[in-house]
This record gives sequence, C-alpha cells and structure tokens, in this order.
Amino acid sequence: NPDTARVLRADLLSFDTDPGEGDTPAAGSVRHVEDGALWIENGRIRALDTWARLAPELPEGIEIVDHRGKLIVPGFIDSHVHYVQLEIMASWGRQLLDWLNDYTFPEECRFAVHEHARAQSAAFLNEMLRVGTTTAQVFCSSHPGSVDAFFTACRERGLRMLAGKVLMDRHAPEALCDDTRGGIRDSERLVADWHGRDRLGYSLTPRFAPTSTRAQLDATGGLLRNDPSLWLQTHLAENTGELDWVAELFPESRDYLEVYEQSGLVGPRSTFAHGIHLDQEMRGRLAARGANLAFCPSSNLFLGSGLFDRLAAREAGLAISYASDVGGGTDLSGLATLKAAYQVGQLRGQPLTAWQGFYGLTLGNARALSLDERIGRLAPGMEADFVVLDPAATPLMARRTARSQSLAETLFALMMLGDDRTVAETWSGGRRQHRRDAPTPT
Ligand code: GUN
Ligand code: ZN
Repeated sequence: NPDTARVLRADLLSFDTDPGEGDTPAAGSVRHVEDGALWIENGRIRALDTWARLAPELPEGIEIVDHRGKLIVPGFIDSHVHYVQLEIMASWGRQLLDWLNDYTFPEECRFAVHEHARAQSAAFLNEMLRVGTTTAQVFCSSHPGSVDAFFTACRERGLRMLAGKVLMDRHAPEALCDDTRGGIRDSERLVADWHGRDRLGYSLTPRFAPTSTRAQLDATGGLLRNDPSLWLQTHLAENTGELDWVAELFPESRDYLEVYEQSGLVGPRSTFAHGIHLDQEMRGRLAARGANLAFCPSSNLFLGSGLFDRLAAREAGLAISYASDVGGGTDLSGLATLKAAYQVGQLRGQPLTAWQGFYGLTLGNARALSLDERIGRLAPGMEADFVVLDPAATPLMARRTARSQSLAETLFALMMLGDDRTVAETWSGGRRQHRRDAPTPT
C-alpha cells in the first residue's frame, strides 16, 4: 500500500545542484548521509536524516526496512527510450537508416495489435524497474492504442512517465504512416485522455524530420503553442546519412535544427535525441530556447553514429540529459548508460566523473525534463521514487568496492561494473516495485 508509512535505513545520496566537472563536487552540491533514515508516507518523502537523529522521532510500530550497507539514490530517469523496440535490441548491422527499415519499422507494425502492445508495455516496465529506472520519456508506435496500453500499464503501477504517439506521415511502411491531420487528431485525443492524469504526461512525438511532412510538423508546433504544459520529443542530427536526407527534403531550411525551429518545435520542454552532428552556433540556438539534448551513448556506439561532444554542449549553456535509446541502445540500465558515456568521453578527451554521472541520471535529467519539483532528489515533499543500490551485489563488486577509499571511487565502480544485479530494490510512489531477490513476474 503506497499510503503506508515506512522508514528505510541505508546510506543516502542526493544532489541539490550540478556538482560541476571537477573530481571533487562543487560545494553544497551533494548530500551524503551515512547510516541514514528515509521516512516515506503517502507516496512522498516525509523526512530524512541520520538514523541516530530520526529514530527517536519515528512513530511506534512503523515498518523499518533495513538496508544497512546499501546506498539509496533517487530513481533513475531515462530521457529517451522506445518501449516498442525492446525486442529488436541487439539487431546486427549497419547504421541508422538501414536499421530503421530492416528492424524497427517491421517491429513497430506489430503494435497495431492491442494485446501485443499490452504485453510489451508490461515487459518493458518490468525491465525498467529491474534496472532502477522510475521515470522515462518514451516513444510509443504510431498506433494510438500503443499509447493507451503503455499509459494504462504505468497507471496500474503508479509510475511517473512521459510518452507519446509517433507522428509519421511519410517515408515509412504504409501500415505505420498516419495521415497528416489524422495523426494530429489522434494526438489531441491522447492528450485529453492522459496528459496530467495521475503521474502521466504527454510528449508530442514527431519521429524525426524525414518522416513528417512540413504540414505535420507545423500542426505539431500548433499543439505545443496552444498548450505549453506538453512535452515534445524527437531526433536530431544523429547520423550523417540522415543529415544529407534532411537537407534534400527541406531545402528551405538552412540546417537540420532550422526545420524544427520553423515549425515551432524548439522550446523548454523539448528533448532532441542525439544532436551529435551540430556546430556551436546550433547548440547556442537550442540553449537559448531552453531545450535539451538527450545523450544516448550506447546507441551512438551501437549504430556507429558518432561521439557526442558533451563539453561543447555544456560550453554553449545547453542542458543535456542521459538516455538509453533502446532499441538503438544496447542496455536499459542507467548505470550502463553512464559506462558508455564515460567511454565516449574517453575517446573525446572528456572523461565523465561519477559525480556528474549520478547527478545526470537523477536531478540533471529531472531538470532537463522540467520534473525537478517532483522527482530527482531525496528531500521532504518529493515523490518517493528511489533505488537501493548494493555495492557488494556480486563477489567481484564486493571485492572492488571493499577497496574504495572514497565515495567517488565507489560510485565510479558502480557505474562501470553495475547492472541489474546492483539494484536491490526499486521504489516508485512509495511502493516497492522491484526486489532483486524476489521472482519477477513473466
Ligand atoms: N531516428 C528516427 N527514428 C529513430 C529511432 O527509432 N531510433 C533512433 N536511434 N533514431 C531514430
Ligand atoms: Zn530514439
């Protein structure tokens, strides 16, 4: 029962602000409580402190969940992922445009069948919770029913999620294309049914410039203008073949980003996945409008798209978020995303610190998605979405973390060696949603 009060005893780690790029975090950015207590009630955090200070204040008989030796962090956030591509992960060969035609579009056609969408939604959420992800911004397929199925499954579990129906009126199999106005009408119906209901939010989802006509992009911009509380998600400058195609399809635009600007799609609630092949002027234009780029390192490596320039984005004042981009990505785990981000950073001479990585997965992503008033931190009043990490999850991890001289070293080992085994429990909305040691539903 999410209303039941409980207290969890463990180490606690949360960020109050960006720790910066240094190997020691900026003053006041990190809160770390050894042997802490996290008191939750009615789906929210009521209080947190050291165990010694909070224990005397706890009501008699309150349930205590003892996780001494483990580390509680805010639930991980994934700013860009396709639930409809779960089962085409790890499909061999070539780059983005062939991969879309050979694997992605045929798979997404299957979501016309409601039972398939229902089963995949459940499987996807179970996998997300196994790896500690409590919130994501999710692409469904172009079928409105794929969104109904997904949000229904999120609602049953009480999760905070953003999602939307893919808008795509050209350059895809006929079975996947909507028509220009029909796709917009379907989106309006989905917004009316789901946006702001419980913990759900609607993200307008034009797939990317090549699969929408200008008329459809313009109409999407119209929806966003009419309701600035909506989110928007799409792809931008991921692959060089894609760039050439966009230049051909939109000769009136001076670059790829201008296609979206001209249709009114670039705003403070807009997430552009990838953004690898941009210049500094374009990064500045995105920053000026408060948009964010979703850095999807495992996908960029898998599809051979390129090496994201994280520090150039930072230099431009442009917010970045971290994302798995499954099924282009090779792992749903936020820890695995950080590992890939570190590897991409190494190839660019920009090694990611564990501070920046854990900040990014939690408060950084919450800020990029304008969800930071509700999630992303362990603080009184915030929603009770958090993960219990086990630094000794495997014999190898126990050996490695036993030698750690500092929290930074332990966090780095977690991000390089961690996976679903590292996630002892995942809680969302004050409910325990996953337990590593319990059998998972099929
Ligand atoms: N660009 C357009 N569609 C997609 C997609 O499904 N995945 C990725 N990675 N890039 C895209
Ligand atoms: Zn994507």
